[in-house]
Amino acid sequence: MLKDYIVPRHLGIIMDGNGRWAKKRGLLRINGHKEGMLVLKRTVESCKNLGVDFLTVYAFSTENWKRPKLEVSFLLNLLKYYINSELDYLKENNVSLRFIGSRIGLDKKIISMMEMIEKETSNGTEMIFSIAFNYGGRMEISDSVKEIALMVKNGNLLPEDINEDLITNHLYTKNIPDPDLIIRTSGEFRISNFLLWQSAYSEYYITDILWPEFNEEELVKAFKVFSARNRRFGGI
Ligand code: IPE
Ligand code: IPE
Ligand code: MG
Repeated sequence: MLKDYIVPRHLGIIMDGNGRWAKKRGLLRINGHKEGMLVLKRTVESCKNLGVDFLTVYAFSTENWKRPKLEVSFLLNLLKYYINSELDYLKENNVSLRFIGSRIGLDKKIISMMEMIEKETSNGTEMIFSIAFNYGGRMEISDSVKEIALMVKNGNLLPEDINEDLITNHLYTKNIPDPDLIIRTSGEFRISNFLLWQSAYSEYYITDILWPEFNEEELVKAFKVFSARNRRFGGI
């Protein structure tokens, strides 16, 4: 089927607005997260069907630990539920799931589940799907710098050989191209520590739609706007 829009090779999504969606309906915030997870499932399917090669979604930031204990533990449990319920779908559909972010602060059980699904889906070639969980762009860059500093300390690298490619290759996203388009739902015009280094030349698409209301129609709308953008990368 011929499409009248360009599908970004790497799509990033800041899935925001779950709490406000719930509040609008007189529900608890956690109900918004539950609904948001269902929308994530459908969005993964849409992205795969539309031909996105790399999808990266922001699910839990290094700053989200500031939220009430109950909400945080609900989000951690939701991730466990998601892993269990999506394992078969991802395998059958050749989607490779990986997690980006820090493992510090996560319990053993969740880490072993993350590692299990990464391993089980590692042969997937249809789409590389990354969930940014316990992720912060600043932490990612400082982790990268830490690894590089160790190489210098051990005599395996000269400071003058540190360059952009080297830093890129020590990020959690090594082997993944930079995002072409980043969608943020719920009308917030900020990056909130998502893919700071990688988004240097990404296109942004902000929609007022709250994440639990997002769907394939909205996705295609974003792709159409993206298709009309003139990306210059500093050139003319
Ligand atoms: C996004 O929705 C999900 C996470 C950040 C975990 P929010 O929970 O931030 O929803 P709002 O922004 O409060 O509406
Ligand atoms: C960004 O949303 C993080 C995720 C979507 C996981 P937040 O709701 O945490 O961001 P702020 O606080 O509005 O910047
Ligand atoms: Mg929010």
